[in-house]
Amino acid sequence: MLNIGVLVSGGGTNLQAIINAIESGYLNNCRITTVVSSRKDVYAMKRAQNHGIPAVYLSKKGKSTEEYDHLLIEHLEQHHVELVVLAGFMCILGDDFNRKYENRAINIHPALIPAFCGTGFYGIKPHVKALEYGVKITGATVHFVELQTDAGPIILQKAVEVRDDDTAETLQKRVMEEAEWKILPEAIKLISEGRIVIDGRRVKIRC
Ligand code: GRF
Repeated sequence: MLNIGVLVSGGGTNLQAIINAIESGYLNNCRITTVVSSRKDVYAMKRAQNHGIPAVYLSKKGKSTEEYDHLLIEHLEQHHVELVVLAGFMCILGDDFNRKYENRAINIHPALIPAFCGTGFYGIKPHVKALEYGVKITGATVHFVELQTDAGPIILQKAVEVRDDDTAETLQKRVMEEAEWKILPEAIKLISEGRIVIDGRRVKIRC
C-alpha cells in the first residue's frame, strides 16, 4: 500500500480526482493518509473530510521557508507518507523539503511545461497567457518536484486543444476535465506500481 499525502490550497478538484480513483479501485494499492492545506477553510479540506480523510490547516504565516519545511516534514512523517502530491498547493517549499522528498513528490501544472510555467504562473494565469500568445494546443503536466518552480522531470503530459471561442475560464475548465484529472491519478498509479524510471531529466515508463 502506498501512503499518499496531498498538499492543497484551494478547491481541491485534483484531490477529488485522486479520491475518486482510489474509491473506484483504479488506484487499488494507494491510500491518502493526510491532506494538508496552506489555507484555512478551503473546499479541498471539506472534500477530504467528506471521505473520512484527515485534513489539517498548516499555516505558513510568520514562518520561514525552513521552519515550514520542518513542520510539513514532521507532519508527513507522522502520517507515514511515502508520496507527496502537490495538488494546487500555493506555498514555495525549500531545500529541506526537496531533499527529504526527492523523487517522492509530484506536482500538477495546468500547461505543457516548459510553456506557461514558473514563478507567477498559477491559478488562471497560465490560461490567460496561453490565449494571449495564441497557442493552438495547451494542456497539463505532472512532474517531480524540484526547488525551482515547475522544473522537475516530467512524468506525464496531456494536450488540450484551444478553441476559437475559449476564454481563460473555459480553457481552465477543459484543461482540468480533459487533462489534469486524468494524468494526476495515472501518474500516481505508475509510481505505485513501481513503473517509473528516472534517467537524468527523462522519466521512462516500464511496461
Ligand atoms: C489546478 O489547475 C492545478 O493544475 C494547479 O492548481 C489548480 C488547483 O485546482 N496547480 P484544484 O484545487 O485541484 O481544484
